[in-house]
Amino acid sequence: MIKAKGMAASKPKAPLALYSFERRSPQDHDVVIDIKYCGICHSDIHMTRDEWGMGAPFPMVPGHEIAGVVTAIGSKVTKYKVGDRVGVGCLVDSCRSCAHCEQDLENYCINGSTMTYGSVEKDGTVTQGGYSNVIVVTEDFVLRIPDALPLEKAAPLLCAGITTYSPLRHWGAGPGKKVAVMGLGGLGHMAVKIGAAMGAEVTVLSRSENKREDAKKLGAHKFLVTSKQSAFEENALQFDIIINTISSSEIDMASYFNLLKLDGTLVSVGVPENPLTVHPFPLILMRRSFAGSLIGSIKETQEMLDFCGAREIVPEIEMVTPDKVNEAYERVLKSDVRYRFVIDMGKL
Ligand SMILES: NC(=O)c1ccc[n+]([C@@H]2O[C@H](COP(=O)([O-])OP(=O)(O)OC[C@H]3O[C@@H](n4cnc5c(N)ncnc54)[C@H](OP(=O)(O)O)[C@@H]3O)[C@@H](O)[C@H]2O)c1
Ligand SMILES: [Zn+2]
Ligand SMILES: [Zn+2]
Repeated sequence: MIKAKGMAASKPKAPLALYSFERRSPQDHDVVIDIKYCGICHSDIHMTRDEWGMGAPFPMVPGHEIAGVVTAIGSKVTKYKVGDRVGVGCLVDSCRSCAHCEQDLENYCINGSTMTYGSVEKDGTVTQGGYSNVIVVTEDFVLRIPDALPLEKAAPLLCAGITTYSPLRHWGAGPGKKVAVMGLGGLGHMAVKIGAAMGAEVTVLSRSENKREDAKKLGAHKFLVTSKQSAFEENALQFDIIINTISSSEIDMASYFNLLKLDGTLVSVGVPENPLTVHPFPLILMRRSFAGSLIGSIKETQEMLDFCGAREIVPEIEMVTPDKVNEAYERVLKSDVRYRFVIDMGKL
């Protein structure tokens, strides 16, 4: 076994504190990664507070935006060598044999993929995430980080990047398409950068004027303040695709649906604690679709990293030390981060 340390919640809603645990010794196909940086995703907050009622095991070391360097490999590893710059996202394994896994869609594994933390591995051990100094992952679920991406900025791409890249690709964002992004947070700001890089016209839908200048710098073409009802009235039937990254259910979905064109699609990636209230009328009236999307597959995550590497697309980050993670959580809840916290795991 490998001795590891991390920041863990001992029980739901407990503040994160230093925690010692063990990782498995590397098996034939395993890669041992010295974790340098880990992003703070809003899902980490939902999970450590058990807001989704998943009953995941505690103590819980969260973190699924992991960037680091390979320090050891199992005897049969072929894809990576010691010294490689690598990442790990939300998945560390899947059944590998279901119809979805066979199509490189292991994020939609029918038998349930193994999440980076809060899951149980095939050998029965509980997975622990990236707010830690070391992780052991089977090579098929490890990503290569392009040289053009600094490790600390690559980290948030492993969740915020792929979760927005995947639906933008799937629903055809590109030249001639109008995309709107609900909520300018960690995911939202990546949706803006990636959507604009794909050639779409991107509009940010944010609660106040506060982030208007930032949105422009990130590449957004337009900015609408959703606290004003007039923004909805003046922009009805405008968008082909809307990506909903809002972490709360306190939103009037009908107003957002009305922004879609005929046959437009609103894709929710935000997972609030409570259900959204959806009346089908605005969908019915303009044959609109309401969809969801879960991160992305390993293959698509590598494609996204290469896409970002080639264009030097990186998140806006604020670095924090591990002892400041609880304060960082409070600031994420207040949307007081521009736009992703990254923990310097070397300071653990
Ligand atoms: N589907 C997936 O695979 C997947 C993957 C990762 C994360 N997620 C989920 O995606 C959500 C966003 O994650 P994140 O890390 O980007 O969070 P975040 O950085 O906190 O961003 C969320 C944004 O939502 C907006 N918002 C927050 N509360 C709101 C409210 N009451 N009303 C209206 N807007 C509000 C804010 O934007 P403004 O300040 O601009 O209004 C905020 O910046 C979370 O629920 C997370 O669990 C899902
Ligand atoms: Zn995430
Ligand atoms: Zn499967």
